[in-house]
Amino acid sequence: MNAFTEVYEVSPMGTGGTKLFDLTGKVALVTGGTRGLGNAMARGLAEAGASLVITGRKQASADEAAEVLTAETGRPCLGVACHMGDWEQIDGLIERAYTEHGRVDVLVNNAGINPAFMPVAQITSEFFDKLYAVNVKGPMRLAALIAPRMGEAGGGSIVNIVTVGAYEGGPGIGTYSSSKAALLNFTKVMALEWADLKVRVNALAPGPFLTDMMTGAARNMSGFLEAAANATLQKRIAEPEEIVGTVIYLASDASSFVTGEDLRVAGGMR
Ligand SMILES: NC(=O)c1ccc[n+]([C@@H]2O[C@H](COP(=O)([O-])OP(=O)(O)OC[C@H]3O[C@@H](n4cnc5c(N)ncnc54)[C@H](OP(=O)(O)O)[C@@H]3O)[C@@H](O)[C@H]2O)c1
Repeated sequence: MNAFTEVYEVSPMGTGGTKLFDLTGKVALVTGGTRGLGNAMARGLAEAGASLVITGRKQASADEAAEVLTAETGRPCLGVACHMGDWEQIDGLIERAYTEHGRVDVLVNNAGINPAFMPVAQITSEFFDKLYAVNVKGPMRLAALIAPRMGEAGGGSIVNIVTVGAYEGGPGIGTYSSSKAALLNFTKVMALEWADLKVRVNALAPGPFLTDMMTGAARNMSGFLEAAANATLQKRIAEPEEIVGTVIYLASDASSFVTGEDLRVAGGMR
């Protein structure tokens, strides 16, 4: 331990191998953990040792997914209904998480939506407000409530899920991509503001992954999956499990000196 690690209280651990990525004794909250990337990340975090809180919009599907995760990973998992666009419901989510587990060490702000392609000239007030509420306002509020509590408990890691679209945008996805660009910017601000709390904040920017979000988009635009695959260097759409290594890295002590960064997991897509 040197002067710097002492200040930052890096936890005692081995210097390599799986110990760096061990989440035993940690609690991870993954929003939108019922399906898709959130479900894969929740499973991966539990397999690395974490207890879980997952959310979805409906209590029944959150319970169902939580039950499966507990059965398959052996780690306790609480399912909570929480609409990420609803400020008050986020207070309730925090209450449930801390009552159940007493702490949250890792927050993965994953829930996000892009229900339709909409050129800028056609964007409605309702569409804009809905996407920004779920994709920016909710994750910002959740992080704001959790960071001080993480600080009181000695620190934590927040991972905001954005998209490669946050960097450049694309036709028809302006509301979605700009909302993720806003979350990316918030990531940098949060990292600055919460470094003293020993809360690290990073963004993970996925490229195309085969989830309901992608297949839904493909139903509305022919050739969408092929175009998305071709925009990667690897010329393919990834499986949800392929995001797991990066989120465990960002959640764990393996990334103890990494904060305010954004990391693409996109097969080389720019
Ligand atoms: N798939 C990709 O290729 C891709 C690429 C770039 C970025 N991303 C980002 O990765 C994240 C996950 O995407 P995904 O592809 O896994 O999406 P998905 O398959 O559509 O799953 C979305 C998840 O979010 C939950 N959710 C939806 N609306 C919500 C709301 N208003 N409040 C709370 N939870 C809500 C859903 O749960 P319920 O249905 O149970 O409510 C579900 O668990 C998103 O932020 C997305 O923008 C995905």
